[in-house]
Amino acid sequence: MRNIVIISSSVRLARNSHRVALYFKRYLSEHKIANADIVDLNEYKFPLFDERLRSLPNPAQQVLEFADKIKNAGGIIIVTPEYNGGYPASLKNVIDLLYAEWKRKPIAIATVSSGAFGGSQVITSLIFTLWKIGAWVVPSMFPVPKVQEAYDPEGAPTDKEVTDKRAKTFVDELVWCMQASEKMKG
Ligand SMILES: Cc1cc2nc3c(=O)[nH]c(=O)nc-3n(C[C@H](O)[C@H](O)[C@H](O)COP(=O)(O)O)c2cc1C
Repeated sequence: MRNIVIISSSVRLARNSHRVALYFKRYLSEHKIANADIVDLNEYKFPLFDERLRSLPNPAQQVLEFADKIKNAGGIIIVTPEYNGGYPASLKNVIDLLYAEWKRKPIAIATVSSGAFGGSQVITSLIFTLWKIGAWVVPSMFPVPKVQEAYDPEGAPTDKEVTDKRAKTFVDELVWCMQASEKMKG
């Protein structure tokens, strides 16, 4: 079975966007789409970026493990909150840490906010950074407005039917790109 890594970006104390990461993990396994692994940046608690992995003299085990997960992922879903119109420093911290691992990696972006616009202002800056590093950003969106009302703390959506329908459109696009990528690798 294909594997998808879900990056949960928020390291905020009372974070809510992690609910969306939990939802996708369950959605992907419930529908037998992929083995899904959450890479939780709050668990890694990486120090502030000071060098790329390839130039680090003694990389921490955690960094190597993180790099392996990204490298081996067939595709990635990034779940990101919107902070002041941008994505969190925790996410930029790990994008900059790696390089080749991101190359041509199919990545779909789910944006999250507590307000009405679903974190959609994050999209342009995050797409640009991922494009710049050579990732393959999938052209589908999953904005989550009012996350605190839309999901419970375990990631169960308030309206499962509608949420699963939106998730299908979003994930189908990612899977298409993953399959295309696999074919090209031979
Ligand atoms: C520093 C900070 C900045 C924020 N800026 C925005 C913003 O620009 N637009 C928005 O819709 N929500 C904003 N919010 C609200 C977040 O979308 C909301 O807290 C959401 O739950 C963030 O995800 P998290 O709980 O996983 O951290 C901000 C929250 C914080 C903590």
